[in-house]
Amino acid sequence: MRDDERHDGFATRAVHAGQAPDPRTGAHATPIHQTSTFVLGDVARGERLFAGDESGYVYSRIANPTVRAFEEKLAALEGAEEAVAFASGMGAIAALCLSTLRSGDEILFLGPLYGGTRGLFHDLLPRFGVTARRVDDDDLAAAVTPQTRMLYVETPTNPTLGIHDLRLVADVASTHGLLSVVDGTFATPYLTRPLEHGIDVVLHSATKYLGGHGDALGGVVAGSQELMDEVRLEGLRHVGAALSPSIAFLLLRGVRTLHLRMRAHCANARAIADAALGHPAVSAVHYPGLPDHPRHAVAASQMDDFGGMVALEFVHGRESAAAFLEALTLFDHAVSLGDVSSLACHPASTTHQVVEEELRLADGVTEGLVRLSVGIEDERDLVRDVRQALDRAARAEASLLPSG
Ligand SMILES: Cc1ncc(COP(=O)(O)O)c(C=O)c1O
Repeated sequence: MRDDERHDGFATRAVHAGQAPDPRTGAHATPIHQTSTFVLGDVARGERLFAGDESGYVYSRIANPTVRAFEEKLAALEGAEEAVAFASGMGAIAALCLSTLRSGDEILFLGPLYGGTRGLFHDLLPRFGVTARRVDDDDLAAAVTPQTRMLYVETPTNPTLGIHDLRLVADVASTHGLLSVVDGTFATPYLTRPLEHGIDVVLHSATKYLGGHGDALGGVVAGSQELMDEVRLEGLRHVGAALSPSIAFLLLRGVRTLHLRMRAHCANARAIADAALGHPAVSAVHYPGLPDHPRHAVAASQMDDFGGMVALEFVHGRESAAAFLEALTLFDHAVSLGDVSSLACHPASTTHQVVEEELRLADGVTEGLVRLSVGIEDERDLVRDVRQALDRAARAEASLLPSG
């Protein structure tokens, strides 16, 4: 890190942090160090490297120079001492849990959670004696027990764009000596830096906005040096979900334009939310930037803008949601998010299909819900596309009404 890097603005850090011309060749772009192992030199140096008495690369499952550049960039953007990269968001979440939790520990989480995380918490971790319990925001402090070790939260939440108060989570965690963890995938460090609000650890599916082009899977965890050393030496080294150097190259390139892309995602999402508001096909528009969002004030206090995700609730359920999805021309019907190109999905039939109906409905994941990951195309074209698809959905709804 350059001496003055800590004071650079977000865009300067996004472009420069972790990256410098290659000192040996002068290569301006960060090289892809596509190597599994590193030459240790003599036996004494090998021993020092393995003992941690000398820093250097030994094996790419633990650290690699291209991956390192991505880690340094993310640490700089989050204002964290250190970051550790993984092969996927789920790899990052699982490794964090395995390296920080012990049998008998409990995770308290504010729902809802991304389905993969929910599966990890409910299906896998209990086999190793770690349990997870969902609590309401207002009950968080009272729900802490002697077994509680971690507070876990996503904000904004997937797919209904709920917002949780980071200050509340940080305060409860510090009062009770717990580890607070935030999945910031939807917000990205451009919009929210949870460590600034007192949170201990922030993690991301880098597959989404960080990579930004829908062509690479990755994950990252950021926090204190001490904790990240533990995550690297236990979670990464022993579990092995290591990010590949060639994918790190793609993620690095993606993050360099994060600020530019996020501005476009946010502006387009706001235009889509405004266009959908009041349309007869739609009964609700979920977007934290709308003044009547139930947590708009909290969102405004911890986000620099309101993100690129919008969810629409159709009056007549699955039929009109399907008519809308099928009428869209610029939004592809696909899961995932954060791509430069717009995506739309129907959570009830895809990402949340396995969630029991009662729970799904309690979280607002109805048959009529469509989630939009608004891309960076021209606002005018996206709005036109959404309008014509909403009109089509309204016509489909009209044909569902009893005639005469
Ligand atoms: C909020 C959130 N966290 C974590 C993940 C998991 O990330 P990955 O697919 O990179 O494993 C996802 C994936 O959709 C997500 O939406």
